Amino acid sequence: MSIDIEKEIKEIPHYPKAMMYGDADGWIRLASNENPYPPSKAVLEAVLDNLFGISRYPGGEYELKESIALKFGIKTEQVVLGDGSDEIIEMILKALRHKGKKGVIVTEPSFPFYGIASKVYGYNLKKVPLKNMKTDLKGIKDAIDSDTRIIFLNNPLNPTGTIFKENEFLDFIKEIPDHILVAVDEAYGEFVEDRDFPQSLKFIEAYPVLILKTFSKAYALAGLRIGYCIGEGSLISYLERTRQPFSINSIALVAARAALSDNDFLKNVLNNNKKEKAFFYREFDKLSLEYVPTEANFILVKIGHDAEYITKRLFEERILVRWMGAYGMPDYIRVTMGKSEENRIFIEALKKIIR
Ligand SMILES: Cc1ncc(COP(=O)(O)O)c(C=O)c1O
Repeated sequence: MSIDIEKEIKEIPHYPKAMMYGDADGWIRLASNENPYPPSKAVLEAVLDNLFGISRYPGGEYELKESIALKFGIKTEQVVLGDGSDEIIEMILKALRHKGKKGVIVTEPSFPFYGIASKVYGYNLKKVPLKNMKTDLKGIKDAIDSDTRIIFLNNPLNPTGTIFKENEFLDFIKEIPDHILVAVDEAYGEFVEDRDFPQSLKFIEAYPVLILKTFSKAYALAGLRIGYCIGEGSLISYLERTRQPFSINSIALVAARAALSDNDFLKNVLNNNKKEKAFFYREFDKLSLEYVPTEANFILVKIGHDAEYITKRLFEERILVRWMGAYGMPDYIRVTMGKSEENRIFIEALKKIIR
């Protein structure tokens, strides 16, 4: 075969297979920042009620956009939906393709798909290292050059769980030339407790800012694949044009609407996350393990040079956590807050292995 594949594509690593385990019983999945709880009863009812409709192409996008618009006090034209926020990242890269400017700036480490998708779509990637475990907004601003087209920010940042605050973002965005798109991925935004977290909707009219959100995390719909993006109407409409017409399945659409209607479910999820976060802080303190205080549903813990080995040993106990070697942090693991009993089993296993 003599099909020539470009270097950028050859270099893309496969998604780690271990992350796919866990459908079988008995696995504790603390590696992918999913919600450990089943979705709300309202979601399950909506799914069952709509199963017979799957012989048709999906409808219901407008209704979901309306529910999202109502929740945020914006217009439906300011919302675009995606097959997970992963698809929205791709839609941004597709809609902003440009003959001259091909530069994308990301924080390193951050959610790997920004970099992977940028390479797939032929962009030039610049990576700006963290500063004190946080996004270095000044470093990102300084990295802008004549090639820059898109900046991907992640708030809270995966994998550290740290945030930048509203005043920090305002200082940053004021300085960014307005031909550069700033995509702010708030996949974990619902979990944030810090009151200075940006009210990012404020920025979408005055600046070329898009906000990415997902139903995969706080709303417990990761398996259905649905996310959304909010921004200024014309920008949103360009993103919409690059999308496959039916990329979001009909069950995901009704489930997401039901999820938005169930505030009690969300409240419970956030309360549990808070409790489990406190549990992890306490336990890691007792073990004298350094961790990064988190605003998300996961926590980055410094294990030391044995981090990969300990991840493997946990795997043998059917506990999945994420070793951060691929993120350039080989001494760390990232642990999702699971259910209370899962977190306790993880801590006991960790203690045993460390001993
Ligand atoms: C920062 C961030 N953005 C986006 C995603 C992908 O979300 P979705 O399931 O909506 O595609 C993830 C998933 O882990 C993530 O960590």
